[in-house]
Amino acid sequence: MAFDTQAINKQRQNLADYDEIWLFGYGSLIYKVDFDYIASEYAYINGYARRFWQGSHDHRGTPESPGRVLTLTPVQGERCFGRAFKVNHEVFEQLDHREKNGYLRHEIPIHLSNNRIVNGLIYIASPDNAAYLGEASIEYIAKQIFNSSGPSGLNRDYVYELEAALKEHDEVDEHVFQIKSLLKSLEKS
Ligand code: BEZ
Repeated sequence: MAFDTQAINKQRQNLADYDEIWLFGYGSLIYKVDFDYIASEYAYINGYARRFWQGSHDHRGTPESPGRVLTLTPVQGERCFGRAFKVNHEVFEQLDHREKNGYLRHEIPIHLSNNRIVNGLIYIASPDNAAYLGEASIEYIAKQIFNSSGPSGLNRDYVYELEAALKEHDEVDEHVFQIKSLLKSLEKS
């Protein structure tokens, strides 16, 4: 996949302008973090839903057989649970590189504990990026995930770990839960 968002992301926000920077994670960052952070708390954003609509040619799939990973799509009235991290701006060097396959940084209000709302950053892969796979039936998505793996491991493990993390926090996400159930059925067949 030739498209690389690293250079674009560097132009999108001047990270030096922020007094403090909060990053919102809605996928693997809920259960696995591989960067240093100053503070972290569970949080939510409004108006977006998780969807396995982004292609992964570099982590959970290959260029020949892309996997599917999460992005967010706007859905009115939706609340998306996740984890917020207060970070130094150096962290974005690492994250821009990791998420270079189509994700752009956006500003978003993040709802932290004690009714605090901060203007933070989030990575979203929108329909105009070259790696975008888009909407499909959950059966199609589950089958593609079941058959995919890449340098970061089996695509299905991403779903299992996320589902377990959401359940641990009593969070319901039918898109994730239905795909997880279909994957478990495929394991048995
Ligand atoms: C995450 O929340 O794990 C995440 C999702 C998409 C891009 C970057 C991070």
